[in-house]
Amino acid sequence: MKRVAILISGGGSNMLRLVEDMTGDHPARPVLVASNDPQAAGLGRAASLGIATAAVDHRDFPRDRAGFEAALLQPLLAARPDIICLAGFMRILTPDFVQRFAGRMLNIHPSLLPKYPGLNTHARAIAAGDAQAGATVHQVTSDLDSGPILGQARVPVHPDDTVQTLAARVLVQEHRLYPAVLRRFAAGDRTPVLL
Ligand code: GAR
Repeated sequence: MKRVAILISGGGSNMLRLVEDMTGDHPARPVLVASNDPQAAGLGRAASLGIATAAVDHRDFPRDRAGFEAALLQPLLAARPDIICLAGFMRILTPDFVQRFAGRMLNIHPSLLPKYPGLNTHARAIAAGDAQAGATVHQVTSDLDSGPILGQARVPVHPDDTVQTLAARVLVQEHRLYPAVLRRFAAGDRTPVLL
């Protein structure tokens, strides 16, 4: 059974979908949910499901990314994860941190990568007049949002879409995509999931 740690920064809806899926014949189980924000709503949600949680406030480490990551590593290493899932984790990780978990850290990003790495993905898709938007799950490498793609889900962009309506449509698909990718990945299958 693979051990999965999930890093979040906010509500953690993707984290909850991953956790919900990790039962029965699933090849993995959640061992830790950690956040850079002690107020992240997802922490309470994970704790209420009986999952160990940890919070390391990045604001306690101003201009000290290495110090923040060293503090985050303590609960993370103690949990002995085989796989780390970034699920709405909004801190950029250093190459050192990424390297430590090379080949076993996943991220979900709300665009059809390689389009729109970084922030404001939905606004950029709407401004570009794109007919489709979506989400991507990829392996994390030290280049932002650009590791090998493990799955993508597409949605139409409607002419009257706002950032909010498009984000909501994409999020529904994120909730299908990430569990499907993690299931395959934990079983050793790297075939991309295409929804
Ligand atoms: C999701 O839409 C995820 O794709 C995005 O943040 C949201 C988190 O929602 N991630 C990024 O933008 C990463 N750069 P959640 O906390 O409800 O899962």
